[in-house]
Amino acid sequence: MKRGEAMARRHCAPVVACVFLLAAAAAAATVVYTAFPPVSLNPCTYSLPRALLAVSGVDPYIVSCGGDDALTASPLPDGKNNIGGPIVTNIRTCSKPKLPPNPLPPFYCCPPMSASEPINFTLPDPAEPLRVRRPVHAVGAEHMAKYERAIALMKALPPSDPRSFYQQANIHCAYCTGSYHQNGNPELDVQIHFSWFFYPFHRAYIYFFERIAAKLLDEPGFALPFWSWDVPEGMQLPPEFANASSPLYDPVRNPRHAPPKVVDLEFVREQGENNLTADQQIQQNLRVMYKQMIGNAALPTLFHGQPFRAGEADQPGAGTVEMFPHNTVHTWTGDMAQPNVENMGVYYSAGRDPTFYPHHNNIDRLWVAWRDIGASRGYRGHVDFTDPDWLDSSFLFYDEEARLVRVTVRDMLDIEKLRYRFEGVGTPWVDARPPTTTDVNSKKGLLMKSVRFPVSLDDVAVTAEVRRPRVSRSRREKEVEEEVLVVEGIETDGAERVKFDVYVNAMDHEKVEPGGREMAESFVCLSHPRMDGTGKGMAIKTSMRVALNQLLEDLGADGDETVTVTLVPRHGQVKIGGLRIVYMVE
Ligand SMILES: *[C@@H]1O[C@H](CO)[C@@H](O)[C@H](O)[C@H]1NC(C)=O
Ligand SMILES: *[C@@H]1O[C@H](CO)[C@@H](O)[C@H](O)[C@H]1NC(C)=O
Ligand SMILES: *[C@@H]1O[C@H](CO)[C@@H](O)[C@H](O)[C@H]1NC(C)=O
Repeated sequence: MKRGEAMARRHCAPVVACVFLLAAAAAAATVVYTAFPPVSLNPCTYSLPRALLAVSGVDPYIVSCGGDDALTASPLPDGKNNIGGPIVTNIRTCSKPKLPPNPLPPFYCCPPMSASEPINFTLPDPAEPLRVRRPVHAVGAEHMAKYERAIALMKALPPSDPRSFYQQANIHCAYCTGSYHQNGNPELDVQIHFSWFFYPFHRAYIYFFERIAAKLLDEPGFALPFWSWDVPEGMQLPPEFANASSPLYDPVRNPRHAPPKVVDLEFVREQGENNLTADQQIQQNLRVMYKQMIGNAALPTLFHGQPFRAGEADQPGAGTVEMFPHNTVHTWTGDMAQPNVENMGVYYSAGRDPTFYPHHNNIDRLWVAWRDIGASRGYRGHVDFTDPDWLDSSFLFYDEEARLVRVTVRDMLDIEKLRYRFEGVGTPWVDARPPTTTDVNSKKGLLMKSVRFPVSLDDVAVTAEVRRPRVSRSRREKEVEEEVLVVEGIETDGAERVKFDVYVNAMDHEKVEPGGREMAESFVCLSHPRMDGTGKGMAIKTSMRVALNQLLEDLGADGDETVTVTLVPRHGQVKIGGLRIVYMVE
């Protein structure tokens, strides 16, 4: 069943940390959904009880809508049953979110309806001053006071105003919980995580958020600060956000992670605190950054995520940085005492914490850094997609004048044209190439029974030798093609969370030091309760990919005919269909 597959996939992820609870089944949610929303649902006709609407603040706009007549009078621009092609967001498809069990209110997140059709995005005037975005830890108290005032001003706007903090927070909810449906494919969701939309969507979100802040502050050049958790000086929650009398404070956070606690970029809810010293943690974080930005991110799909086109199930696969540290920083910040690690640790509520915006500003900066590193080091794969289905996909935002604007991915690719840049922090992790550990694969070739796939990964690690179709490729060949390990046919019954680590050339994986190079990737999958109330899980079938070019060079194993792959179970039960090496070009 198509829907089942889509739901299953969204709970699974080929690297650490989809602990960030993805639009979970709404079985126990207050707003119960047992079937698909009717096609005609839109922000105007949606029939939540009035009391709930009043709570959620959507009410004022309900009356300004045209209702069903307006809907039939202006059919969706894209016609029916779109297969392939760009994903085009239509505000009229917005309806109830699919929330996880026991969510915190409000329970509705569509934007107010616009009285007019969306206008197309236009670039800002090139004469506009360039906004210089600086790190929170170095931008200075005066500038942070401005960000604080901007948040206070947004919070003071009525919830019906699309520029209010309430509505800004809801943007994230609407695009991440299946509130929007695909034009012409009403049974399919628009979702901007776990696919190639992760960076451009969030860039546009932050772009308008920054301009709204500037407008409210009456300071045209105002630039949003970023939380640079990837450099040692920024690796804690900025203290300004921990001041309980500041508008930047959010009580729904993990109290154990208040500053000066060093952030754990591999934080996983099930594993809890790793108890590293601050220095060890910083070093491990830098290695994580290196792996996710360079070693494992050699191709557009590996960095950005998998293509997602009209007519396809959402969340085909996340890029490296989205999985971690993006997801892990979300989870690390959220409150584990809440049912879904609210606010930051779950999609629907993440935007309610004022740290969300500086966090995503840093993600935006890392996109720029990834391209810059590619250009300066000659990494040919560090380039954006040129696929028109990506470039022409579009999302809707309200701008600083409260006009509804249609933004395409194409509009968001050049930050100079968007009139901002990043300054004030380096990328020290480019030098944090993880160390290798000696003598962890000395048993290679000995006492190895041949592994017969599929195997069940329960509590014992499984090691297999995987044959490489080609060895010692030339530098030129490696520039053109990435060698990729595919872990195929990953199956779980969905009843519990699953995590396993993938080690390369490390049969003695326990000896690999934290952040060590042999620990190539992790797979993490959420439990996925079935909607039928039986307490059983929904079966999950997926795969993951691990980039090998640089890894094998680091391990001095580029001439080997086989790669030793050790799958180490950490949590839950999972079946593995097979291991295979392929060469990818993009
Ligand atoms: C907006 O952009 C679309 C896609 O490029 C185009 O078809 C449409 O005519 C534009 N609308 C206006 C009002 O310019
Ligand atoms: C906390 O925030 C309040 C309100 O902005 C401010 O007056 C106070 O000085 C801040 N306290 C500290 C320790 O920064
Ligand atoms: C960290 O310390 C806590 C409390 O002492 C302990 O429960 C936990 O197991 C430790 N974590 C690890 C990864 O050792």
